[in-house]
Amino acid sequence: MKLARPDVFHPRVVLAGCAALPEGDGDDDGLVEALRRRGLHPRWLPWDDPATLDADLVILRAAWDYTERLDEFLAWTRRVRRLLNPAAVVAWNTDKRYLGDLAAAGVPTVPSVFVAPGEGFALPPGTEGGEVVVKPAVGAGSVGALRFTDPAAAAAHAAALQQAGQTVLVQPYDPRVSAGETALVFVGGAASHAFTKGPILPPPGGAPVFDESGTYAEERLAPADPDFELWDVGHAALAAAAAHLGITPGDLLYARVDVLGGPEAPRLLELELVEPSLGWRQLDDATRARRQRVFALAVESALERFGLGPFSHRSP
Ligand SMILES: Nc1ncnc2c1ncn2[C@@H]1O[C@H](COP(=O)(O)OP(=O)(O)O)[C@@H](O)[C@H]1O
Ligand SMILES: [Mg+2]
Repeated sequence: MKLARPDVFHPRVVLAGCAALPEGDGDDDGLVEALRRRGLHPRWLPWDDPATLDADLVILRAAWDYTERLDEFLAWTRRVRRLLNPAAVVAWNTDKRYLGDLAAAGVPTVPSVFVAPGEGFALPPGTEGGEVVVKPAVGAGSVGALRFTDPAAAAAHAAALQQAGQTVLVQPYDPRVSAGETALVFVGGAASHAFTKGPILPPPGGAPVFDESGTYAEERLAPADPDFELWDVGHAALAAAAAHLGITPGDLLYARVDVLGGPEAPRLLELELVEPSLGWRQLDDATRARRQRVFALAVESALERFGLGPFSHRSP
């Protein structure tokens, strides 16, 4: 192992997991080594560990339990010294109502109707008699997401989520999910790699199978090399999000764009800027090492932007 140079400032970098998975689910394991090779020595901590407040930079990775503690989580994002992705990005992206902003900006998006607590249940136009997906606007890992053909059952699930204080999202069920959804991974605003995720929700009446931590439904992932039409949706989503937030796509350390459908009519299902699993395990060893090096370089650039570059705190 390289020894730390005493004359160089060593920012304290934290990778943030959650109490149930303090070091994530293993997918990010190689990041520690990739960052070490750039002279950074990150440590994993659950996001709600007070020691995260002493870090110079916190990188959100597996904070998968924030959905049940959103206010506390968002307050924490504003308290840490520096966060990637930044707190304002997290505040916008933790609520799937952001899909409305992206659709309004022209990004081809799965049609979505939002129903706040106290509002009456509504189906997306044209879905009467068809199958829908009802899910919480603040959700991750498929928690609370179910398929329905019976509108009364859909309305009942929505009412239960609303009772719990949730805004609800109703979408037409897109049967193309049976071929899986495509996850496009961006690092520092540039395309990095991609993978596919098999369908997660069982037919109406069934519920997905969850990991023992309870934070996410089990997923079947596979490597992918998507067509450019899908990447175009990804780039459009990043550009629209950055414009909405008044930043550049390059300010986003990581982003994952989940797309349903093939090159003829791809539709954005999710833009994940908070806690996406980046699917490093889907890459072969050489590609993963290269792509994780790019991730580490993007962390380094962010530290430079924050005025925390290696020589910025050098003693005279
Ligand atoms: N409109 C839809 N059509 C088909 N499948 C869907 C739809 N919405 C969600 N799903 C399925 O449910 C899963 C979870 O929904 P998603 O919107 O990705 O929320 P999250 O991952 O934040 O829980 C998706 O990965 C997909 O398998
Ligand atoms: Mg998802």
